[in-house]
This record gives sequence, structure tokens and C-alpha cells, in this order.
Amino acid sequence: MDLLQYIDSHREEHLNDLKEFLRIPSVSTKTEHKADIERAAQWLSRQLKPAGMEKVEIVSTKMHPLVYGESPQRPDRPTVVFYGHYDVQPPEPLELWTSPPFEPEVRKGNLYGRGTADDKGQVHIHMKALEALQKTQGELPINVKVMIEGEEEVGSANLWDFVQKNRGRLKADALVVSDTSMLGPGVPSITYGLRGLNYFQVEITGAKQDLHSGVFGGAAPNPITILAEMIAKLHDKNLRVTVPGFYDDVAKLSKAERKALNALPWNEKEFRKTVGSPALAGEAGYTIVESLWCRPTLELNGIWGGYLGEGSKTVIPAKAHAKFSTRLVPGQDPVKIAKQVERHVRQLLPKTVKCRFEVLSQSKPWVAPHAHPIFLKAREALERGFRKKAVFIREGGSIPFVTQMHDTFDIPCVLLGFGLPDENAHAPDEHLSLENYYGGIKSVALFYESLARGVAG
Ligand code: BES
Ligand code: MN
Ligand code: MN
Repeated sequence: MDLLQYIDSHREEHLNDLKEFLRIPSVSTKTEHKADIERAAQWLSRQLKPAGMEKVEIVSTKMHPLVYGESPQRPDRPTVVFYGHYDVQPPEPLELWTSPPFEPEVRKGNLYGRGTADDKGQVHIHMKALEALQKTQGELPINVKVMIEGEEEVGSANLWDFVQKNRGRLKADALVVSDTSMLGPGVPSITYGLRGLNYFQVEITGAKQDLHSGVFGGAAPNPITILAEMIAKLHDKNLRVTVPGFYDDVAKLSKAERKALNALPWNEKEFRKTVGSPALAGEAGYTIVESLWCRPTLELNGIWGGYLGEGSKTVIPAKAHAKFSTRLVPGQDPVKIAKQVERHVRQLLPKTVKCRFEVLSQSKPWVAPHAHPIFLKAREALERGFRKKAVFIREGGSIPFVTQMHDTFDIPCVLLGFGLPDENAHAPDEHLSLENYYGGIKSVALFYESLARGVAG
């Protein structure tokens, strides 16, 4: 049977299979889901054989296992590493979901559930594309090495170790990833740049224990006030980050790239609607697209301390906490930035409190030219799969593995995103457009097929 015909005639079956995968709550950040993570890895490993992998392995790490597979490796064929992640973000707050996060449901052409867009749905696209090739051609047209990890959402801490230990085994001509988004509906996209990330947590301690605010208020330091003041000083009026040196190494955008990015069919009105705030807020002097993809930021992610229960409690808490992160762009070194941020935070705090400063995760920014001929093949495959014009974009999110692979092997990294910016990744009612899911399977199958003749020619 013809490849595209095969994919079309298996829509129902593929969707039901994906739903099964999505029902496993593979939340990586919570220890209570350890068994579910294991179950998801097992489930996924069973997908690899029909997808043409001859060797399948569940590799345990210090945290969550990695699912690894290899198709028969023929020396005369190009080799591709496919990377994705099967772990998901916590679903809370549960009451904001229209249907339960781990009971996938189709509504108006979208599949709802945690992990639909990020990243189980996109991983599944590749499993089914490979399976379609294997079933219709009896073998895969290229050598494939599949690695799907279970700790992307918590920073991919153990992946670096695996890559270094398996340098020989992971040798490939290209990396293929689907863990990004399309520019908008009907605009298939290839992402050639991602921001990096530093994730921080601070604990501010004043008194040695909580204090009665009537008895001690007026003489004892209040860590919440002090933390809030410190946080308020991290940006200036133009929303620029005040950390000394923060912008020093930021790579300047070329005129040509600036022009190309700002000329993309990006819909500002839709973007404003997706955000939904009374007005947008960002660094002065840059277009929204530039701010999102090419400028570094500092964002507060959480802040807590003191009494949060019902009614009132007159207390001066001993501690206050915050989680915050910096998104980094090419030129910036996460390690250097982390030192600058810590120094600045400590300098902003008065002597009345102590501060514990932790770096929870780090990921380098990535940008790469898309002149390699493999990108033309990717673009053609997307255009055939979607019957729409494809574009090259950068994005603001981070995928630690992409930089690791790029730095280690210096190979082209092809990021084919099938999510959409308004699909609520990491938020309630996460969903994936079925049109993009099916279009994705076709495009990926066509892309792998086109590589049979070599990644370059
Ligand atoms: N799939 C995302 C990354 C992403 C999102 C790339 C949107 C491009 C566009 C990934 O699962 C993710 O959420 N990564 C984290 C970083 C990680 C180190 C926790 C992120 O970007 O916050
Ligand atoms: Mn992801
Ligand atoms: Mn994510």
C-alpha cells in the first residue's frame, strides 16, 4: 500500500493508541508518579519494534529511565537520531481542566490531555511515521536511533551522562526532534533557534522562627517584604534586567535575520488573544517576535511564604521563598549568568536576612544556520504533508538535549514542531490539533523517506 494511503487509513487506530499513552500520568517532577513513569517507558518501548527498531532497551538512570532503540544499521544509509520526551508537567490546577488531564478527549478537532502537545503526542507522530514506513516498505529507508527520555521537564540532568558514555553509539548524520511549535495554524515550521535557561530558587531567612507580629513587628526583619523588594529591583522601568553584565554577551541579530523574522506570517492579534492580559509587557525597543525568540529575560515563576490558610494569622514568618529563571540567548553562558545573578541578588539583600541560593537547572541557548540541504528536505516534506508553505522560525522555549547534541557531534538538528502556541503546554486544557497530528505523521514519514538518498543530496 502507498505510504500516505496507509497513514490515512489508520487514523482511528493511531488516535486510540495515542490515547492509551496519554492515560499514563508520567509526571516527572513528583516521586508519587515513579511507577507511572516506569509504565510509560514500558509502553513506549513496546512501540519501538513495530516502528522498525531491532534493539530496544530501557536504560535506567539516576532518576527516570530512557527508552532507546536502534533499527538495523546499514553502512550505506544515512543515520538519524530521533529525540523526544515521554514525561509531562504536573496537571494542577485540576479544577481548570474541562475534561480530566489523563482522560484524553477529542473536542472540535483537538485532542485534550496532559502531554498531547508536549511531548507525548509529538513523539507518537514519529512512532507512527516509522511504523508506516516499516509496514509499507518492509524496512526503514534510513538507520534510526530513537532516544526518548523521561526527565526533560525537570532539566534532563542525567542525559548528558548518557550522551557522553554513548558517544560512539549515538553517532549520526542528523538529529531530529519534535518538541516545538508551529508559527500558527496552517504554517508548518522548522525551528532553528531556542533560548537557554537558568532556573533558580532562593530562601530568605530572618528570625530563627516565626514571630508574633504584634510582639516583634517594628524590630524584627520581615523576609517577605525583603524578598519582594529584592525581586522588584530585578527589572528597571523599561523592563530590562538589572543584573550587571546580563546583556554583555548577547549576540546581535543580523539585519537580514531581523528582517526575515519580522516578515514571518506571525499573527499579533492572535498572540494578544492567547495571552489575554489587558496589555502586553516587554523590554522596550524590540518587536514582540524579537523579544520572544532573541532577547534574554528574567521571570519570576513562584513566590511563597508566611500564612496562606483561612482567615488571619498575625505572624512575621521566619522564611520567604521564590523560584525564578532566566531565558538566555546565543552568546550568553548559563554558568556565567548564574554567578552574576547570585552576586546581584546577594548585593540587593540587607544584612538583616540570610539567603540560600540554588541553581536547579541549566540549559544552553542554541541557534544554528539552516543552510544544510537536509533543511530543504525537511521543508519539502512538511509542505507535502500539510499542503502548506513551511517557514523557518526561532522559539523562546528550551530543550537542553538539542544543545548537548549539537555541541557534541556538530550535526544538523532538525526541529519539526507540530504543537501550536495556544495549545496550553504546561497549563490546563493542553491539547493538540488532530490536523497537525495527522499532518505530522505524513510529513515525518515523507521526510525520513526522502533521507534514504542521503541527508545532503
Ligand atoms: N517542549 C518544551 C520546550 C519548548 C516549548 C520549545 C515551546 C519551543 C517552544 C520543553 O518540554 C520544555 O518545556 N522545556 C523547558 C525547559 C526544561 C529545562 C524544564 C522550558 O522551556 O521551560
Ligand atoms: Mn517538551
Ligand atoms: Mn515542556
